[in-house]
Amino acid sequence: MSALFTPFKLKDVTLRNRIAVPPMCQYSANDGFVNEWHQVHYAGIARGGAGLVIVEATAVSPEGRITPGCAGLWNDAQVEGMANIATRIKAAGAVPGIQIGHAGRKASANRPWEGDDHIPSEDAYGWDTIAPSAIAYGHGLPKVPKEMTLDDIARVKADFVAAAKRALDAGFEWLELHFAHGYLAQSFFSKHSNKRTDQYGGDLAGRSRFLLETLEAVREVWPKNLPLTARFGVLEYDGNDEETLAESIELVRQMRERGLDMLSVSVGFTIAETNIPWGPAFLGDIAKRVRNEAGLPVASAWGFDGPQLAENAVANEQLDLVMVGRAHLADPHYPLQAAKELGVDKPTWVLPAPYAHWLERYRMAR
Ligand SMILES: Cc1cc2nc3c(=O)[nH]c(=O)nc-3n(C[C@H](O)[C@H](O)[C@H](O)COP(=O)(O)O)c2cc1C
Repeated sequence: MSALFTPFKLKDVTLRNRIAVPPMCQYSANDGFVNEWHQVHYAGIARGGAGLVIVEATAVSPEGRITPGCAGLWNDAQVEGMANIATRIKAAGAVPGIQIGHAGRKASANRPWEGDDHIPSEDAYGWDTIAPSAIAYGHGLPKVPKEMTLDDIARVKADFVAAAKRALDAGFEWLELHFAHGYLAQSFFSKHSNKRTDQYGGDLAGRSRFLLETLEAVREVWPKNLPLTARFGVLEYDGNDEETLAESIELVRQMRERGLDMLSVSVGFTIAETNIPWGPAFLGDIAKRVRNEAGLPVASAWGFDGPQLAENAVANEQLDLVMVGRAHLADPHYPLQAAKELGVDKPTWVLPAPYAHWLERYRMAR
């Protein structure tokens, strides 16, 4: 019996297995509108057999895009393209999820293959950035963001709520708040980027406030029976990890009490000077600790793509869901290949009948 290939139920949603495709920006949208590439990409990956496919970081406002090519849900006209994606993911047997976020001081950047660096605001494609404090990230992202006013904070929270409603209208059944990777929410939490002296900075309660209020506001409009999750960097690998982890786990507990259903455990990426122990499944034990101490299901990514590693992560109760990213770009049929490698027989659960029937016969004929 494979643990990886058992279904997973969260609220009213059941995934056919424990393999999820994490959000991966395609940087290919125009003015936030997705196009044919996104349809092909997401439909192809969903057909490969994953239980959950989470659509890329989708900006809640134009200024919240990482790059000019990022997807958005800041206006109603953007819903139709997203609805087509959700429909196709579902038709392929996966659950359609989406990540919504705001890039904060890391916004207004060139696409990764065009430099990954800040686009000056004077440039036609660049824009001014906002953040909890007027501190630049540096390292190719030198733009000093504007320190957000209380009105800015209220507006961004409202943008998250509006984008969540549009995601629901588009047919998504799983919503992930992007609270990770040094973008706006993570930068409110981190002492490296938040030096505010008002109620949105300072101690743990202050630095958690933006995340908790945003979560609460979104929970009010996102149906109770559908999963609301967040991706959050629980540590930075900056030498201060025990303290950060303890604070993070406390925050996650509070998020759970306010209706968070699951956490995707990741790294903060708030500063560049870190000592991240890159390697296969390096977040496994950290994720397990969050799972046990915060008391909610967890997922994680970063090097879990070896099928046996993924299997072990679920079997050893490190993860409830395994996020497999780049391996899906290399082979959209990753789950099918993983099933073969793990010796899972008759993978009809990942294949629609028109394929499964013939595959079975073909296998029998051999
Ligand atoms: C092309 C690409 C785009 C990504 N975009 C996002 C994103 O939109 N949101 C996010 O939280 N992580 C993003 N990530 C990180 C992935 O979700 C994932 O954590 C990472 O690829 C590590 O998992 P892996 O080792 O299975 O690839 C991206 C990664 C890649 C390779």
